[in-house]
Amino acid sequence: MGAPLRASLERRARLDALADEAAAFGVRPMRAEDVDAVVSIETEAFTSPWQRGTFLELLGRSTVELLVMEHRSLGIIGYAVLWCVLDQGELANLAIVPSLRGQGLGTRLLAHVLETARGRGVETVYLEVRESNAPALQLYERFGFSQVGVRRGYYDRPKEDARILMARL
Ligand SMILES: CC(C)(COP(=O)(O)OP(=O)(O)OC[C@H]1O[C@@H](n2cnc3c(N)ncnc32)[C@H](O)[C@@H]1OP(=O)(O)O)[C@@H](O)C(=O)NCCC(=O)NCCS
Repeated sequence: MGAPLRASLERRARLDALADEAAAFGVRPMRAEDVDAVVSIETEAFTSPWQRGTFLELLGRSTVELLVMEHRSLGIIGYAVLWCVLDQGELANLAIVPSLRGQGLGTRLLAHVLETARGRGVETVYLEVRESNAPALQLYERFGFSQVGVRRGYYDRPKEDARILMARL
């Protein structure tokens, strides 16, 4: 086999492997049996985490979109919660399991959330984020979110201001 052909086959194999890995992750609506895994990610991500019962109660509400990101062998690795009221949405929670952060999964999950919001007729999405949360702020800015306000002392443990961000879809 000549060198150009080998290089081309190797490149193709690398692209196939990447596509295969990307296809291993999917986003779907949350179900009751996902909630334990979601709570464990929530508890690692936030100092005042939502409890199991909160997620279970929200599952039945038509104004809330609960999404999970699932890996075909690792199981649930991320989730998001979006409130939708008429043309406004509020992104309440979004998290990826710590060991898989920084690989583009939060970006994929957020893209899905915003697509879901658009599909429900949402035109404006709001969210609150700790002002020290640089990864989240960068992620949201990349999706066109900008600061529209501040809630002083909004968060506990540690006490911190929330930035209110907004994006038009
Ligand atoms: C915010 C969060 C969901 C991002 O998930 P992720 O899978 O790491 O995100 P991605 O890999 O898609 O990165 C998206 C962007 O975030 C930013 N980012 C990610 N990790 C970062 C870090 N450690 N420091 C600074 N910026 C970072 C970058 O801008 C990155 O884009 P780039 O890779 O092109 O530079 C994740 O950090 C998380 O679960 N945090 C805890 C929960 C949380 O704070 N949620 C948001 C508040 S509701």
